[in-house]
Amino acid sequence: MKITAAITGVQGYVPDYVLTNEELSTLVDTSDEWITSRTGIKERRILKGEGQGTSVMAIEAVKGLLAKTQTNPEEVDLLLCATVTPDYVFPSTANLIAAGSGLGHIPSFDLGAACSGFLYALTVGSQFIETGKYRKVIVVGADKMSSIVDYTDRTTCVLFGDGAGAVMLEPSTSGNGIIDSQIYSDGSGVSHLFQKAGGSKYPPTLETIQNREHYARQEGQAVFKFAVVRMAEAAAEIMERNNLTGDDVAWLVPHQANKRIIDATAQRMGIGPEKVMLNIHRYGNTTAATIPLCLWDYESQLNPGDNLVLAAFGGGFTWGSVYLKWGK
Ligand code: ACO
Repeated sequence: MKITAAITGVQGYVPDYVLTNEELSTLVDTSDEWITSRTGIKERRILKGEGQGTSVMAIEAVKGLLAKTQTNPEEVDLLLCATVTPDYVFPSTANLIAAGSGLGHIPSFDLGAACSGFLYALTVGSQFIETGKYRKVIVVGADKMSSIVDYTDRTTCVLFGDGAGAVMLEPSTSGNGIIDSQIYSDGSGVSHLFQKAGGSKYPPTLETIQNREHYARQEGQAVFKFAVVRMAEAAAEIMERNNLTGDDVAWLVPHQANKRIIDATAQRMGIGPEKVMLNIHRYGNTTAATIPLCLWDYESQLNPGDNLVLAAFGGGFTWGSVYLKWGK
């Protein structure tokens, strides 16, 4: 019987500090009305404190996941972390998470695909289960976006927040688990959404800092147009390939970047708003963490065998979708 990779547990972590639209209105020229109507975001969480990197949140999520799934840390075979805000350029944040969660000397590595990172990592992690190589794989999506957001730029600072989510993948022969996935990229989109400096092309200099080039920059409208088409296309394509109609889908689990993009995707899939996971109003765009945070929030409403379509897009450009049946 075919082995699939099933999500057997999910856990999230968001920091305590709540940055509201009202507080943002005191930092830049914006308003709750503008942010809510254009994006659907009301508030986001921010990780405060010196020396607190992305791994701090991810370790909380992974420790919670181990406890919830009653997993002995020594049983875990592999940990992947999708992030664009690693603690360091090197070593990888996954190494820090594995050590901080007591996982032992297992393989662990980061994977960068911006807001599609979790879908990419889920797709990669599931291969190790399907081939029989590993039996317990943890996939993390975590980002401390506040570390690369320019709080003087009203066009980006209202969008992002901090958070982490983690899932456990295990083999299943019940028919549940990840059935299909597709991931895409188009690197010609780089200039529309990127952090210019700090990498090998433009290492940090006084000039890059003065020009504020260590922050995320995006051309909102260009990204919006791309996202609205690609995310809907990816969701529709995976449904067609698996002969799913809107009625067959229990939940759409979309990347949380903009409520309007999510609505357009649901419409293209032919599903109503009651089947769409949404928490953008509470967390904003947490980049690689949005999808696991949604699964965590909605976990109590999920039943074994439910058809879930996960869809995302992000910087690169990257985009994709995953079709899975919930439960082991
Ligand atoms: N408050 C008030 N006014 C604002 C704000 C703000 N926060 N931001 C922009 N404006 C103004 C603009 O200056 C502009 O003013 P003007 O007409 O006087 O020039 C006006 O509002 C309209 O600006 P637009 O950019 O056209 O606004 P739009 O409706 O496109 O909304 C937004 C902007 C929300 C950024 C939208 O384009 C969007 O969601 N884009 C996609 C972003 C995204 O999803 N990114 C995710 C990927 S992130 C990743 O991969 C890491």
